[in-house]
Amino acid sequence: RITRHYKFDIKLKNVTRLCHTKSIVTVNGRFPGPRIIAREGDRVVVKVVNHVQNNVTIHWHGVRQLRSGWADGPAYVTQCPIQTGQTYVYNFTIVGQRGTLLWHGHISWLRSTIYGAIVILPKRNISYPFAQPYKEVPIIFGEWWNADTEAVISQALQTGGGPNVSDAYTINGLPGPLYNCSAKDTFKLKVKPGKTYLLRLINAALNDELFFSIANHTFTVVEADAVYVKPFHTDTLLITPGQTTNILLKTKPHFPNATFLMAARPYFTGLGTFDNSSTAGILEYEPPSVPSSSTIPIKNLPLFKPTLPPLNDTSLATNFTKRFRSLANIQSPANVPQTVDKRFFFTVGLGSNPCPQNQTCQGPNGTKFAASVNNISFILPTTALLQAHFFGQSNGVYTTDFPNNPLIPFNYTGTPPNNTLVSNGTKVVQLSFNTSVELVMQDTSILGAESHPLHLHGFNFFVVGQGFGNFDSKKDPAKFNLVDPVERNTVGVPSGGWVAIRFLADNPGVWFMHCHLEVHTSWGLKMAWVVRDGKLPNQKLPPPPSDLPKC
Ligand code: C2O
Repeated sequence: RITRHYKFDIKLKNVTRLCHTKSIVTVNGRFPGPRIIAREGDRVVVKVVNHVQNNVTIHWHGVRQLRSGWADGPAYVTQCPIQTGQTYVYNFTIVGQRGTLLWHGHISWLRSTIYGAIVILPKRNISYPFAQPYKEVPIIFGEWWNADTEAVISQALQTGGGPNVSDAYTINGLPGPLYNCSAKDTFKLKVKPGKTYLLRLINAALNDELFFSIANHTFTVVEADAVYVKPFHTDTLLITPGQTTNILLKTKPHFPNATFLMAARPYFTGLGTFDNSSTAGILEYEPPSVPSSSTIPIKNLPLFKPTLPPLNDTSLATNFTKRFRSLANIQSPANVPQTVDKRFFFTVGLGSNPCPQNQTCQGPNGTKFAASVNNISFILPTTALLQAHFFGQSNGVYTTDFPNNPLIPFNYTGTPPNNTLVSNGTKVVQLSFNTSVELVMQDTSILGAESHPLHLHGFNFFVVGQGFGNFDSKKDPAKFNLVDPVERNTVGVPSGGWVAIRFLADNPGVWFMHCHLEVHTSWGLKMAWVVRDGKLPNQKLPPPPSDLPKC
């Protein structure tokens, strides 16, 4: 086991995309940011120095952070922000995970420009459960705004309306040739014929689930959220913000006399303003080393484009999602909790807040847009929840009365309630150590049908069931998969449907759970779990590092 040291200097950098130059917050002047590479079992130490005016935190999305909650990163949840001129060292060990994850800024909308890949290789001398690929390539999807994203979200929150959509989606920071003034900003993957490439796909976009496909090629899904899955073939995949998917791409056996586009564009079930444009990159084959008289120069080769599914192709999205299974089987089952100590039923969805007097609001019926879990729109405190919990100073910071069930009875199939108002609060669920939790999340589809990619910090969970319509607590649990359900950290709760997950609360600390569509997080679709210490010394959260930022 070794320690990997990184230094993240947070600094401004002028970046040009779509013929638009703006100064953005970056890590080490790079966009996307640097890659973190480690092996399972390694310790990772990242020294973050903030040279910009913005407050900053970094989250290691999907890293379990076993008893290292102080390094998790969400602002006002596990730490106060790193202010201008300050330094904070994130220090954590990667336990029981291998594959691809991502890191990103976790305060306001800073993750629009600071994000990067986390590549976790298997332990030394341990191989993949599939043939060793010839090459490994991270492919990170993102979004680009010509405007300043902090301004975009603060304007939206002030007026109560929705924020402007991005001007482009990106692959490794590049919008690609399908946008105006962007041809030179195209990601190009050069490949050799007859080889297998491991593509590490990461959706770091702020607000969109994405379909992805490569013209004239199929691939094999082998891993999701840093957990191996039973391999399956597909020509199109869906990836929600916060999810990672590893695929094997086998290139054509001979030089194909063509180049191919890979492209991504949103999956979006609702109505409203959205961007249905596509980001694209190029898959380019190395020409034969001995060209013949018939070899066409690369720039004259025909270019094939993939057909991406219609924007609202829910059946494709659902069928794809259901194919994920953990690599486990009957003989060696996944570590799914077979019994449940506590059951929770959460509604997740949009709603609204009253418009303050003397203001006009651009949300539904003149209200302000909000979003909630069990009708509670979460307000971040002005100090960090984890500090308050650890030092026994929760008074005035948070309350432990987060409801196990919705406050307002909810029926998806009926008429939506005409009262969409939410209540605001900083409420958490408190769990004792090692509680086995079952959580059903039901999408309310009030104010715009949209899936919600829910992300849980500090844990992987098993997706034991999903469906459309109202969850039926009598019939649906009988159909749960307790043998080989997929294990992940982010799951799409389908529009007008539900998802059931199970996890073991074996990680003491405070763990954020939220919709990974950044606009929904800003509107309040978030909450936190407090997991108490266990009795044994190795079941307790150690005290905070001395450089933990103060609020
Ligand atoms: Cu990737 Cu709390 O987020």
